[in-house]
Amino acid sequence: MNHPPIPILDLRASIQEQEEELRQALVNVLQSGAFIQGPEVKAFEEEVADYLGVRSAVGVNSGTDALILALRALGAEPGVEVITSPFTFFATAEAISVTGATPVFADIDPNSFNLDPQKVGEVLSSRTRILLPVHLFGRPADMAAMQAIAEKHELQLLEDCAQSIGAKLEGRATGSMGAAGTFSFYPTKNLGAFGDGGLVVTQSASIAEKVRKLGNHGSLERYHNEELGMNSRLDAMQAAILRVRFRKLDAWNYSRRKAAARYNQWLADVDGLQTPEISPGHVFHQYTLRILDGRRDALQAHLKSVGISTIVYYPVPLTELPVYRGQYPKFPHSEQAAAQVLSLPLWPDMPESTQQRVVDGIRSFFTNRAAAGLPR
Ligand SMILES: Cc1ncc(COP(=O)(O)O)c(C=O)c1O
Repeated sequence: MNHPPIPILDLRASIQEQEEELRQALVNVLQSGAFIQGPEVKAFEEEVADYLGVRSAVGVNSGTDALILALRALGAEPGVEVITSPFTFFATAEAISVTGATPVFADIDPNSFNLDPQKVGEVLSSRTRILLPVHLFGRPADMAAMQAIAEKHELQLLEDCAQSIGAKLEGRATGSMGAAGTFSFYPTKNLGAFGDGGLVVTQSASIAEKVRKLGNHGSLERYHNEELGMNSRLDAMQAAILRVRFRKLDAWNYSRRKAAARYNQWLADVDGLQTPEISPGHVFHQYTLRILDGRRDALQAHLKSVGISTIVYYPVPLTELPVYRGQYPKFPHSEQAAAQVLSLPLWPDMPESTQQRVVDGIRSFFTNRAAAGLPR
């Protein structure tokens, strides 16, 4: 029987389910005539701030801009070192570099894929000012340890929550545990807009004001520019869409966790794989396996041949990218992760039968190898 291909992410059902509300939200913006910032953006900022338990939220153009603006507000500039992970999306380090500050990398904990606090301790210097953990794949980083390091060494703690909206640690939302947190609403994120969008959240009124000012050409009052900023504001169309989609976020995150648990259960007896831990608060932006036998690329090709899309997040540690290559030491856990990881299709309300097909595809790869007498 011919099955339709399985994409890595299918947003159609989640959009259809809210289609009427989304249409109405867009019509309201058209009729309001307020397209940049305005009441929709303000309402969205307040709703998210309330949900995350933070004092302020500032809507910006993208998750990348959110990082750049938050970093600048926290004092990133030439001569300052910011510690982050080499195993994340490029934007995390790129944002540090574009402020003029220097990214300093510490290796990951192989179990969580997140920054290893012990390794952070090894790269601290007198120039370190900011610690930037990423809650990768939707799994909260070890924030108790990060907070302890930040406190002891008087560092500003900035959380990259692009992949972790709604993730919680002991009741506290990611983004609310540091000096500031940044979010992305890129369409594939757990809360996705229909274009680019981002947010900076903070408990500090002065950091919020600084971010707002920097994202608005360095001015809080029109035509009274006080410093060099940029144009980075959330637009009303995206905010209106996000407000509608936000109502479903918790249900979608719950559904992602359930789907991850099903994958774990159905893949538990497959040799050669390591399934991700369903750690507390994990919102499974990605469901990421490790392929332990060195045949990750062959498995990916096999799945593609049977119509199943997978993605390698991320194939190269940031320190090995052309832009940074040769400037940093090796990070063995990040390199190993880059060589082993494979993210499977996962989205809220993904049909169980679709998941079963992915699992069958994986099983057939390992079983055929065994039958052919090849190492598994
Ligand atoms: C960890 C991480 N940081 C930052 C970003 C940048 O977000 P954006 O694409 O909205 O600029 C992303 C997402 O793409 C990300 O995954």
